[in-house]
Amino acid sequence: MKQVSATVISNEKLWGEFRLHGRPKYSGTWLMWLKCPDVTREAKPGQFVMASCGEECLLPRPFSIHQVNDKGIALLFQVVGKGTAWLSRCKAGDMVEMFGSLGNGFTIHPTSKKLLLVAGGVGIAPLRFLIDKTLEQGKEVTLLYGTADRKRYSTSPQIKLVSATEDGTVGYKGKVTDLLPQYIDGADQIFACGPLPMYKTMAQMPELKDKPVQISLEMRMACGLGVCYGCTVKTKAGLKQVCKDGPMFELSEILWDEQDFEC
Ligand SMILES: Cc1cc2nc3c(=O)[nH]c(=O)nc-3n(C[C@H](O)[C@H](O)[C@H](O)COP(=O)(O)OP(=O)(O)OC[C@H]3O[C@@H](n4cnc5c(N)ncnc54)[C@H](O)[C@@H]3O)c2cc1C
Ligand code: FES
Repeated sequence: MKQVSATVISNEKLWGEFRLHGRPKYSGTWLMWLKCPDVTREAKPGQFVMASCGEECLLPRPFSIHQVNDKGIALLFQVVGKGTAWLSRCKAGDMVEMFGSLGNGFTIHPTSKKLLLVAGGVGIAPLRFLIDKTLEQGKEVTLLYGTADRKRYSTSPQIKLVSATEDGTVGYKGKVTDLLPQYIDGADQIFACGPLPMYKTMAQMPELKDKPVQISLEMRMACGLGVCYGCTVKTKAGLKQVCKDGPMFELSEILWDEQDFEC
């Protein structure tokens, strides 16, 4: 884990305000590339960084490592509050203080050949890096990608992409979890990142009961280092900290009904 001053290479708005039932839900999704050789060298799919987001934010904010290349790392983020709004205003050449890479990351078993990935909205963020890495390893990847409407982030062309949109503008009309049961058979491992209701639906699916399913859990984080206990989650193996023991957990390990998820 390194504390670094990362230089913004580029910061691009991918799409604008998203409205749900006529009300603004968030105001833009951004792709930021950062030059930070120390973090880039260490990064593993599923890990995250804690980024300082300007003077107004006392605490750094967690973001998944979305992509890695020889220039640096990319973050894909939705503007939901003052920290992400600050990040969206950064321009090429600006500095972002951060530390990482943090967390356990996804575990890819060497014997797994067929991987099934499930993304809900900006949950695509950590999965893109996983796709790139597993394609390098010769795995076969299917991505079920659910968003609210036709605005969605393009993924690697070498995978099978199955889309679902809540308004039916692209692919299946409905939730990505509706599609899941028909793709489970034959998948050696399943990886998911999305909102809490998506995980709760998955946790109740009988088809997933005996399958290895790794999920990326999002909790509000203060320190990101296992010090403050702010991100504690109840699991079958006791209390765990999402920043230190996660953010990847087995879906079946989480005691979904026994905790208040704030996020
Ligand atoms: C391990 C991890 C990886 C993450 N990766 C990404 C990512 O790749 N892209 C991305 O857009 N977001 C990601 N998040 C969520 C991101 O950290 C929050 O959206 C961000 O901290 C909000 O900061 P803010 O100052 O803009 O909003 P705030 O003003 O702090 O809060 C605004 C709203 O966002 C909600 N929120 C705040 N923190 C979180 C959180 N940790 N998780 C979910 N909702 C939150 C609040 O409940 C509130 O409703 C990740 C979170 C974790 C824990
Ligand atoms: S954020 Fe402090 S212990 Fe996890």
